[in-house]
Amino acid sequence: MITVVANLKGGSGKSTVVFNLALWLQMKGQPVVAYDLDPQQTLMDVAEVRREEGYAPALQVYPPRESLLEDLNYHPKNVHVLVDVGAANIDAMKQAIKTSDQIIIPVPPSQPDVWATQRFMDIVEDATGGQYPKMRAFVNRADTHCAVRESDDTEDAIKQIANIDLISNRLFQRTIFRRSLSEGMAVFEMSKRSKATDEFNTFAGSVFPELA
Ligand SMILES: Nc1ncnc2c1ncn2[C@@H]1O[C@H](COP(=O)(O)OP(=O)(O)OP(=O)(O)O)[C@@H](O)[C@H]1O
Ligand SMILES: [Mg+2]
Repeated sequence: MITVVANLKGGSGKSTVVFNLALWLQMKGQPVVAYDLDPQQTLMDVAEVRREEGYAPALQVYPPRESLLEDLNYHPKNVHVLVDVGAANIDAMKQAIKTSDQIIIPVPPSQPDVWATQRFMDIVEDATGGQYPKMRAFVNRADTHCAVRESDDTEDAIKQIANIDLISNRLFQRTIFRRSLSEGMAVFEMSKRSKATDEFNTFAGSVFPELA
């Protein structure tokens, strides 16, 4: 199964989500490979940190090659292929989208991020000719203060976008997600009992309900 984590805007949390989802799937005993199609190579870097630190299991991350489409489809169906993309390589993003089974779209709670998500749909249309994979969006970096309404507004806006379903499990703005990337560990590895871990586990269970 090929899962692409994508959005047009930088910093929405794509690499963070791919990294944590990949380790969550491995924790569930699932075979996983990841592709880092972003020239920034954040996912490659964090997997390298993890390897250097000797944390198990390691995460296998591949860079894009000329044969990207064949590479993505080379893996047996039971292998979870997770793909991190970046706007700096739109060609690779489109190829991954074209061959994906599902797209997961992190959307920070702001109007520019909603606009970027709407524009992202043009890219998906272009890549697939309207033969859409399953597409779901969720609010990432939600404000923990309940008086702030942006996350509600952003979810309302997501519901208005055609062909995208809302995952109503938000990931909140939590420092541990930043540490996750710098330390090469998943949030649930760093802290078994934290709000971020509970939120992430619930979210991951929504992305892969058969493993919840
Ligand atoms: N829920 C969260 N809470 C706190 N920090 C977060 C959260 N999600 C992501 N971050 C942090 O925000 C920053 C950007 O996240 P990340 O690199 O995953 O985004 P990205 O979409 O991959 O960015 P880019 O487009 O530059 O590749 C990182 O420092 C990351 O640790
Ligand atoms: Mg990234």
